[in-house]
Amino acid sequence: MAKSITIFSFADQTLQARTLAHLLSTHYSPVEIHRFPDQECSVRIKAADVTNTCIVVHSLYHPDSVSIPLLFLSETLRDHGAERIILVAPYLAYMRQDKRFNEGEGVTAKYYSRLISQYFDGLITVDPHLHRIHSLEEVYSIPAYVIHAAPVVADWIRDNIEKPLLIGPDSESEQWVRDLAERINIPFVILEKVRRGDRDVEVSVPDIERWQDNKPVLFDDIISTGRTMIQTIHILKDSGLAAPVCIGVHGVFSDTAYADLSTAGAERIITTNSITHKSNAIDLTQSIALMIQGLPVMQDS
Ligand code: R5P
Repeated sequence: MAKSITIFSFADQTLQARTLAHLLSTHYSPVEIHRFPDQECSVRIKAADVTNTCIVVHSLYHPDSVSIPLLFLSETLRDHGAERIILVAPYLAYMRQDKRFNEGEGVTAKYYSRLISQYFDGLITVDPHLHRIHSLEEVYSIPAYVIHAAPVVADWIRDNIEKPLLIGPDSESEQWVRDLAERINIPFVILEKVRRGDRDVEVSVPDIERWQDNKPVLFDDIISTGRTMIQTIHILKDSGLAAPVCIGVHGVFSDTAYADLSTAGAERIITTNSITHKSNAIDLTQSIALMIQGLPVMQDS
């Protein structure tokens, strides 16, 4: 890459940030974080590495503990002369509380996006959970660029699964599932889901029995408690279908979700590396590098 940019990350995102720097033929600079005994933190950069445009790689998994260090990193970079700071957050947190579900609740999708917009000049993310918010521009006041995992997920399914039947667990998933299925010309069905609580989900499957000869592939943007997929697996089993492969773009896996999903009968559990996890089998780094290369800001930094 001709333009001078530096990629920064904290230690836990080193692998993806370094690979990205390598793909972009640019410099990677690690950021240190120090926790004081009272749990406050400070961040430390290599001052000489600061360029006009800085890219910070940080997936927003467990956002409550990472957000303060991230905002401090942005301020520290600016104090050292950075003019533009782009956040690459392959997993974007706080997109699901996108309305007031109960009286007196806050709409955290709005509040969190306002916070990030104050500290960064641009955002790159992968398949954010857009439902009642239709595009990131509705809540982010900075340019926000979305990468779709569908092309790399489609490649993975084509290369690894024979005779797949793609299954989306709810109407929200139709946007991703339809796109995915059309890319590799495979059949798909969309289920109906009712969520009664964080861990209480009911899924129904219209006319699934006719797909006995296909390999079920469950696909969702997020696997969190795993309940959505677990309920779906039970229905597939009851209908006599084969054990499914479960694919999530973002493997959040709260508590014992990963183990629960295996126990429920998932044959394989596959995720992208938007959140580092042992289920990562689909790499997004090349797609992120291409997105960065195409940014208008890269043409004049
Ligand atoms: C929700 O609307 C998302 O698309 C996912 O279906 C949901 O986040 C999955 O959550 P869980 O794994 O907790 O059922």
